[in-house]
Amino acid sequence: MRRVGILGGGQLGSMLAEALYHLDAQVTLYDADPNAPAALRYRDTVVAPWNDAAAIARFFERCDVVTYEFEHIDAAPLRALQGGPPIAPSVRVLEITQDRAMEKQFLAESGLPHVHFAVVRSEAELRAAAGAFGWPFILKTIRGGYDGKGQFYVAGHEDLDAAILALRERRSDFACVLEEIVDLALEASCIVARSGEQELVFPLFENAHSGHILDLTVVPARVPPEVARVVQEVALRTARAIELEGLLTVEFFVGRTRARRSHGAEAGGLIVYVNELAPRPHNSGHVTRNACTISQYDALARVLAGVPLTPPRMNGPGAWCMANLLGDVWLAQGRDQLDLSCWRDHPLVVDVVLYGKREARARRKMGHFVTHADTADAAIDAARAFREALSRRTM
Ligand SMILES: Nc1ncnc2c1ncn2[C@@H]1O[C@H](COP(=O)(O)OP(=O)(O)O)[C@@H](O)[C@H]1O
Ligand SMILES: [Mg+2]
Repeated sequence: MRRVGILGGGQLGSMLAEALYHLDAQVTLYDADPNAPAALRYRDTVVAPWNDAAAIARFFERCDVVTYEFEHIDAAPLRALQGGPPIAPSVRVLEITQDRAMEKQFLAESGLPHVHFAVVRSEAELRAAAGAFGWPFILKTIRGGYDGKGQFYVAGHEDLDAAILALRERRSDFACVLEEIVDLALEASCIVARSGEQELVFPLFENAHSGHILDLTVVPARVPPEVARVVQEVALRTARAIELEGLLTVEFFVGRTRARRSHGAEAGGLIVYVNELAPRPHNSGHVTRNACTISQYDALARVLAGVPLTPPRMNGPGAWCMANLLGDVWLAQGRDQLDLSCWRDHPLVVDVVLYGKREARARRKMGHFVTHADTADAAIDAARAFREALSRRTM
């Protein structure tokens, strides 16, 4: 029986554990939070701080292979454990994907389509680069950003001063990338798995964000078939270039017009760029649990358990829409336990997944659901209607 370790016991780690149990793997999870979803649900969860090198070393001793469910994890202690069980994706992949500058440089060096960027390391460099780069641009901190955190739209000197003030308040260093702005037709993600010489690629998902947090994912994406083909091909090329063993989510921008200095791939009259990489299951990939013959979790579980990969197919005609449920819905209901009684009036909702987080906070990802309908528009409408119904006060 393969012993698999998962660093991180949030919803992604928990759903991966579930897929691993189906392959009869033995799973151990690790999280610092005693209230992490996995810690509350799975007996074999080690609860210890992230900086406890001895606890991490003991955790590794219990595993034949280790993976992680988030990339903001300190790579140095993992490097030190090399020689022990393999880490998949590798520590090198982790280091590249947790550092926006390294990630962009990797894309550029690998000849993959990407948005024009510049890297700065200090306030002086930032001020000097801003004028030369050309307004407007998006400024992103190199480390620790997610869900739009650490990002600033900079149209001119005033915005730049405001961003610098915010950076000064929040952190000591000014390591950032400047990025040219893309005239977005849509955003998409594409998930790839690799295991030795075997590889698979999921259909392309279309993603809509709200307040910088993923709101809806629709599959199949509403793009010309050439766009889907190019995106899948670029996702596979990215995985090969980074020598992936495991799962990689490639986030894409699909632009209407060619950004002036960026290196896009043209497809179906649109321009495709890789935005960023996540070396793990992805929020958008929840939709695969319903829409595809194998889920993103099944795909990674197979790599980790040494089971062959087979190509994912759609589970039939029509479209699926995944919608996140943030803590705001719980707050709107005014209850700890979500009241799902309105589901009886929403037959297009095929699945609801609640992560078991104890405390509902605004903007916190607490669960998701999936709808299935004849068309993407109908699936999206059904998702919006269900979320509105859930958000009505029930007591
Ligand atoms: N260069 C850009 N041009 C247009 N929109 C952008 C650009 N960079 C970021 N965005 C918008 O901000 C969102 C978050 O940026 P992203 O780089 O994906 O960071 P995060 O790590 O927060 O997901 C993107 O999904 C997109 O909507
Ligand atoms: Mg992103």
